Amino acid sequence: MNPVTSINANTNYSQTLTSSVSWRRLEAHFKAIECDHMVDMFAADPRRFERFSIQFEDILLDFSKNRINEETFNLLMNLATERDVPLWRELEFSGEKINTTEKRAVLHTALRNQSDRPVLVDGVDVMPAVRQELEHMRTFAAGIHSGEWKGFSGKKITDVVNIGIGGSDMGPSFVSSALKPYQCKGITPHFVSNVDCADIANTLGILNPETTLFIISSKTFTTQETITNAWTARDWLLSFADSEDAVAKHFVAVSANEEAVAEFGIQPENMFRFWDWVGGRYSVWSTIGLPVVLAIGMENFESLLEGANAMDKHFLHSPLEHNMPVIMAMLGIWYINFFKAGSHAVLPYCEYLVSFPDYLQQADMESNGKSVDRDGNKLDYDTGPIVWGKAGTNGQHAFYQQLHQGTRLLPADFIAPVQSPHLMGDHQQKLLANFFAQTEALMKGRTPAEAAELLNSSGLPDEAAQERLPFVVFRGNVPTNSLVFKALSPRTLGSLMALYEHKIFVQGVIWGIDSFDQWGVELGKTLAEAVLPELQTLEKAETHDSSTNGLINYCKSLD
Ligand code: F6P
Repeated sequence: MNPVTSINANTNYSQTLTSSVSWRRLEAHFKAIECDHMVDMFAADPRRFERFSIQFEDILLDFSKNRINEETFNLLMNLATERDVPLWRELEFSGEKINTTEKRAVLHTALRNQSDRPVLVDGVDVMPAVRQELEHMRTFAAGIHSGEWKGFSGKKITDVVNIGIGGSDMGPSFVSSALKPYQCKGITPHFVSNVDCADIANTLGILNPETTLFIISSKTFTTQETITNAWTARDWLLSFADSEDAVAKHFVAVSANEEAVAEFGIQPENMFRFWDWVGGRYSVWSTIGLPVVLAIGMENFESLLEGANAMDKHFLHSPLEHNMPVIMAMLGIWYINFFKAGSHAVLPYCEYLVSFPDYLQQADMESNGKSVDRDGNKLDYDTGPIVWGKAGTNGQHAFYQQLHQGTRLLPADFIAPVQSPHLMGDHQQKLLANFFAQTEALMKGRTPAEAAELLNSSGLPDEAAQERLPFVVFRGNVPTNSLVFKALSPRTLGSLMALYEHKIFVQGVIWGIDSFDQWGVELGKTLAEAVLPELQTLEKAETHDSSTNGLINYCKSLD
């Protein structure tokens, strides 16, 4: 089958989704089971956990605490089939230009391809260039770690500052913090992203210029925040060094824009390349992972890639009903489009995954926060959810009240390694006990009868017990996925991240949107360019609406 013909044959996705047979059946089915309670579902089927859980390597996904039955599951899988998920996953891996609005292939999976399989873009195999950049990173990291690479005064590098934003920051920053137990001795990674000078000032304030290396990470090398921070870092360095030659010893770049990197003064041999077929939010697997390589070593970075590749193969080859990313994606569709849940919480019970919700926020919301389909037709159904969350148990003492007793349905993923790298008393058991208790409480709730019994046995006088009753009832029936694995190794982390990437992709396929463009970030950027010179003159701003003019002028009056 010619893949291009296949994409074209399936245009007008938005119009066919809600009129498709599977969708209509799901609508009817939703009406029939929307009020069913999971407590009854568990009571009716003692094998529900076995039926609705799946294992990939040591990662267990328990999705039995969802508001689904056998029929729901089958109908969701039918929808995935009807929307050509099997075809689209083939197209993604084949190098087809499935980022249709930017006419680009989407090949982050090639960056972790462990086989000899060529991956063609416009008839050219990209794998030799991918391997070359991996070797480049390996050699460079060896020089930094051994001390062969020296700063301007002849000292070994001890601190690495990544300057980047969005995908050029969040991926490497998240992975470096998640894999902190694997950190190489003698190297500390730092991440500067915000154009707010507090970010770079606070970072530079604790660093020694003689032993600091800067990585300027920007696919375009034109991003305002990154380039501003890069020049500030350069000026800072040169205020300590005698000559401009110091720049070559303290600055390297990761980019797809060779010209702009050269203009900044970075030597071509100190530029790490990546390509237009790597989207920013999918780029940590590329040379954008350089700070990770320096932080945890090449071997651990390769394990991360291997873990992602293992998940890629599972996604590509497993039947839909035994496919972890597909199952998670379709459960999301069930809540977003039928229950009208507008958000999805990510709740890691693991301090090392504290920034996983933030990382996934960009991965999901920049990919699927769209309101037109691939053909530009306006959608009449909801797409990507608001992704949010916090590490447990901190979240329990912040927003779980609303999960348990608020008016909205807030589906959530609970994630935890069984083992902690730290052996300290019973901390880990307490952490896991909270995880399991919360998912149980969210599923079961507490009925008025159970609440009344509890109040009676607490010795509260009858009248007070009656008054208290409505406040201690929990409706339950809050859906959760549980992801549990042995330990947070580089391999497992790679698999987990790839799991979510594929989940997001499948949801985009169902909705008929391009999950790989991000036109929505352009307008604000352009307007900021126009506002900046107005903040830099004494004249009053008059060209905007009264609110924007008012804010600019008030700001100038206080400056
Ligand atoms: O936020 C928009 C965006 O384009 C992201 O997709 C990207 O990760 C980020 O900006 C950074 O872009 P660059 O790597 O080109 O500096």
